[in-house]
Amino acid sequence: MNILITGANRGLGLEFVQQYAENSQNRIFACSRNPQTLEKENVSTHKLDVTATEDIDNLKQQMGETSIDILIHNAGVYGSKSGFGSIDVDSWIHTLKVNTIAPIKLSEALIDNVAASDKKTIVIVTSKMGSISDNTSGGSYVYRSSKSAVNMAGVSMSRDLKEKGITVLLLHPGWVETDMGGPNALLKPKESIEGMRKVIREATINDSGTFFAYDGQKINW
Ligand SMILES: NC(=O)c1ccc[n+]([C@@H]2O[C@H](COP(=O)([O-])OP(=O)(O)OC[C@H]3O[C@@H](n4cnc5c(N)ncnc54)[C@H](OP(=O)(O)O)[C@@H]3O)[C@@H](O)[C@H]2O)c1
Repeated sequence: MNILITGANRGLGLEFVQQYAENSQNRIFACSRNPQTLEKENVSTHKLDVTATEDIDNLKQQMGETSIDILIHNAGVYGSKSGFGSIDVDSWIHTLKVNTIAPIKLSEALIDNVAASDKKTIVIVTSKMGSISDNTSGGSYVYRSSKSAVNMAGVSMSRDLKEKGITVLLLHPGWVETDMGGPNALLKPKESIEGMRKVIREATINDSGTFFAYDGQKINW
């Protein structure tokens, strides 16, 4: 399978690359802002700031007519100054650009590549912090709203792309030990990615537009 991953240089994105690359039948397109060569035959690296139109255009050119079985929108930011009373407008807008708008714009750019594949799957790595019903503790205005919004946009994509046979999944990785998750997180990247890979592997078009945790549990909006 051909798999394209954003934010592939560290954290969950890098773990996705490493696990998928273990299967030599897979071809991995690892996209990041500052790509570094990975010592693997079946991994190519590509420059992609997900907010940069020029990078998206260049990536589209590089991909040509190559099919993409799994397009993984993983790149994300938490945003700073996101508590009530100290909201920073520019940080909020930037977070929306990365977490919410980029997955849709990159999907638009690469939709023919996904439609030309066998698996035809788009994965948005979102967060349970974007669940409105789960929000009992408040705070984190910037991050929470960016993930709620991408959930809504992802559901629209799932409806719009159904006739092309494309499955759109909204996946929560769990609380994972990365730069974003911090040292107290409950999961290691290995376990989170193994779980999400299983969800992706088993998903069918009937699951399109569903919000799943890494362990396959459905999450309420
Ligand atoms: N860790 C958790 O507990 C947790 C929980 C729920 C959801 N998530 C979600 O999981 C995803 C991955 O998070 P993580 O924990 O691996 O975070 P991380 O360790 O902070 O890594 C974030 C990744 O996103 C990339 N990125 C940020 N802005 C970008 C941009 N403009 N263009 C391209 N890449 C960009 C970073 O690249 P640079 O190195 O260039 O900055 C990095 O590769 C995110 O969507 C996050 O919201 C994580």
